[in-house]
Formats: sequence, C-alpha cells, structure tokens
Amino acid sequence: MRHLISPLDFTVEEIQKLLDLARDIEKNRSKYAHVCDGKKLATLFFEPSTRTRLSFESAMLSLGGSVLGVSSASSSSAAKGESVADTIRMISCYSDIVAMRHPKEGSAFVAAQKAGIPFINAGDGGHQHPTQTLTDLLTIYSLKGTLENMTIGLCGDLKFGRTVHSLIHAMVRYPGIKFVLISPPELRVPDYIREDVLDAHNIEYRELTNLEDAMAELDILYMTRIQRERFFNEEEYLRMKDYYVLDTDKMKLAKEDTFILHPLPRVNEISTEVDDDPRAAYFKQAQYGVYVRMALIMTLLELEVE
Ligand code: CP
Repeated sequence: MRHLISPLDFTVEEIQKLLDLARDIEKNRSKYAHVCDGKKLATLFFEPSTRTRLSFESAMLSLGGSVLGVSSASSSSAAKGESVADTIRMISCYSDIVAMRHPKEGSAFVAAQKAGIPFINAGDGGHQHPTQTLTDLLTIYSLKGTLENMTIGLCGDLKFGRTVHSLIHAMVRYPGIKFVLISPPELRVPDYIREDVLDAHNIEYRELTNLEDAMAELDILYMTRIQRERFFNEEEYLRMKDYYVLDTDKMKLAKEDTFILHPLPRVNEISTEVDDDPRAAYFKQAQYGVYVRMALIMTLLELEVE
C-alpha cells in the first residue's frame, strides 16, 4: 500500500507516468468515468480549503466513486480531543482512500503510519503540499512541454508557503533548473530548504527582494500569498501583506512566454487586471488539479483502464 506524504514519495519516472495519465484523462474524460465505481474517498480537512478539498471530491466523482468527509476541525470529534492517529484508524474502516489537511507539520507522517488505506497529504501546516506540487508540475509540463532547463521565480511568503517548499523539493530533480527566490528578508525560504535541498543538489539560485529585478529572466513566475494564518503577530502580517503586487506594468517586463502560476487563494499579490493576460495560468492550474488528483487516486488504488 502506498501513501503520498511528500513529492519525493514518487520517483521522477513515476511522476512522469502520473502526468501522462492526467493528460490522457484531460483528453478522454469518458474513458475514466467508471474506474472507481464502488470506491469511497474520505476528505478530512482540519484547516480551510476550497480548491484542494473540492478538486479531490470532483476527481473522485468524475471517476465514478463517492465521497464523504469533514470540512473543519469543529465539525469532527477532533473538537472533543480525538487524535489524528485515532481518526485515521476510524476513517480506514469507512473508505478506500483518504486525503487529509491538518495545521500541524508532521501530522501527515503520523496519519500515514496509522492508515489502513492509501493516505494523501493535502497540506500539513507550513511543511508540504504534495498534490499542489503535482498540479504545478502538470501545469508547467502542459504549458512548456518539459520540466527541464528553466528559470523559476518563486515570489512572496517563501518561509511559510508549503507549496513553495514542495515545489522546490520536486523541481531540483530535473536538469537545468534555476531558481530566483523573491521575498521580504523576513520571509526567506527556511535554512533547511536552502542547505538540505538547494545546496545539496548544487542548484543555481539567488535571493532577491525586488520582483522587478527578476522579471526579464523568468520562464515561470510562481506567486504566493503572505500566509496570514501562520503569523504570530497581526501587525507583522499587515506590514508584509502588500509587499508584492503583480500588475500589468510589471508584466511588461516579462518575456512573452513567461507564465504566471499561483496555487491560490489570491489576496492582493496579483492584480485582477493581470487575469486577462494570456500568460496568466493560475485558473487553468486549478483545473489541472482535478486531472492530476484523478490520476493520483487511480495510481494509489492501483486501478487502470484498457
Ligand atoms: N491551493 C490550495 O491549496 O488551495 P485551498 O487552500 O483552497 O485548498
């Protein structure tokens, strides 16, 4: 039985197979409409979500399966003090596969150890968000035709942004990847990402505070919001929240084929005027999230169609 806790749980070859399956699903939806007949997905979300939870549920319904779950800690027995370990043991009796989001780093690891069914980390605190990474990889692959030889700008809250941490982990395995890390000094990527991931893989990167200085060299610009829920101090959040705003003037500095990604939700960091730019790919990215989660559910349940 396999789980997905980190993007590194799949080899590069396995990720390629999953992306190819997702692309086939996109083109041939009806072929996959009954592959999960009789199967149940549980979604356990102890932190707010729109895209991840609903795209998982949409994915399972599109595969012919059904869904059950909780959308907040307050509506489950977690509010009475039940542990993640006990909750997962219960859910394993009620469903065939489970996706969980939890505010605590490491909760996914604990849950996977107790799960009697395939377990998917749908985000654990500021740590990892591997299914967002699969979504990001499918988006980049579909837009660029490759995951190799490109310069990726990551902009915003690189300290708390778990999508950024997961994406860096995943992309360092491809040749010719360079990063430009654009953040306020207080929100730089954690030391363990810089030392254990970037330096350990001899990845070329530089750190900047000014977005304009990077625009012209980027193939992908991955914007992120400032993660209000991870700040201890509201004043500090208010000081940071509008640090970056991507607008049409800044887009003029970018190449014609620089695509803009964002895991969403957006707050102020991308002006809505950018939405009409053909390089704005973040809503398409959310759509890819359904296809890649369909492919992931099939892969973890070891289901195939002829
Ligand atoms: N991208 C993402 O994780 O969005 P949600 O928080 O809405 O699930």
